[in-house]
Amino acid sequence: MIPVNEPFLAQRELEYVTECVRTGWVSSAGRFIEEFENQWAAYCGRRYGIAVSSGTAALQVAVACLGLGPGDEVIMPTFTIISCATAIVYTGAVPVLVDCDPTTWCMDVDQVKSKITQRTRAIMPVHIYGHPVDMDPILDLAERHGLAVIEDAAEVHGAEYLSGRGTIHPAWRRCGSFGTLSCFSFYANKLITTGEGGMILTDDSKLAEKAQSLRNLCFQAHRRFYHEEIGFNFRLTNLQAALGLAQLERIDEIIARKRWIGQEYNSRLSGIPGLQLPVEEPWARNVYWMYGIVLSEETGMDAAAFAHKLKQRGIETRPFFLGLHEQPVFHKRGLFLQDRYPITERIARQGLYLPSGLALTPKQISEVSEAVHEVLA
Ligand SMILES: Cc1ncc(COP(=O)(O)O)c(C=O)c1O
Repeated sequence: MIPVNEPFLAQRELEYVTECVRTGWVSSAGRFIEEFENQWAAYCGRRYGIAVSSGTAALQVAVACLGLGPGDEVIMPTFTIISCATAIVYTGAVPVLVDCDPTTWCMDVDQVKSKITQRTRAIMPVHIYGHPVDMDPILDLAERHGLAVIEDAAEVHGAEYLSGRGTIHPAWRRCGSFGTLSCFSFYANKLITTGEGGMILTDDSKLAEKAQSLRNLCFQAHRRFYHEEIGFNFRLTNLQAALGLAQLERIDEIIARKRWIGQEYNSRLSGIPGLQLPVEEPWARNVYWMYGIVLSEETGMDAAAFAHKLKQRGIETRPFFLGLHEQPVFHKRGLFLQDRYPITERIARQGLYLPSGLALTPKQISEVSEAVHEVLA
């Protein structure tokens, strides 16, 4: 079986993790945590990094930092992972959804404006499968309406966005540099992994302090077991940060490899009738976290049937997200009952991603591509 993802760990990871074991710094104190936070924040052009135990935890802490609660609304894409919505729902605030763009699969920024109400407190753009959201219109709306931006960059380590197009100062900026608070995941299938892990980035010292407190049960520095707020235990361990730091040292190589995988698939799969491939907008640098494809209905197959045929040929795939508005768990809570988002509904049924891990060999890419040709022939 060619797996959909396989982490690619190297010698430096082993050295750093071994150092943790040797020195006994295996829990949530130790040199690697702060180094990983500082270096990841610097890489993304931010002042503060707060490491947490997962991307889901990062979103939860980010939302908690903004003090959202019942009566508040957050505008976000329906085409994303459930973590984005649960972070909002836990607080009693309500996610308000928009559909996605049919080519980038990221949130359709043109739909955001009409969803802004008196209750809107934040916008949550989510970069999808390695491709950035068109951020300028979001940042512009957020500024004009006084809204926070919770940027979910879990899938786009190192991806870049050309901001300020049409001005005299356009500039490429890394994803994760845009949000009031920006969130990353370091789960095993991400470009940089800590096994499980996440991080919140911000330039605001007060928000950074709050995030640090929230991830660690809101212990107080001068009176430890005295609590004025409710927090979480979302601490990352030194062991995990050791992995992350080692990976970060070779991020350029990791990104180059992901882009190479994306371009290899592009050249082998382009021109197949009925097959939509990932794009790279002129204002974006895609890191091809996962190589997604969407089948046209004319192929007579949906993604599930296609995945089954690939599996028979020894190739593992993953379906695209099912939109948040189609999730039974939210319907039970009376959310999104009348919502329809046709682009998301279509790609949720017709989309899947191919093996995209860093350990993928040229031979495997060629086998996967041949299998796709064969199934669609
Ligand atoms: C867009 C997005 N946000 C958040 C998460 C949650 O991250 P984690 O799995 O580390 O909790 C993921 C996970 O893959 C994701 O794809």
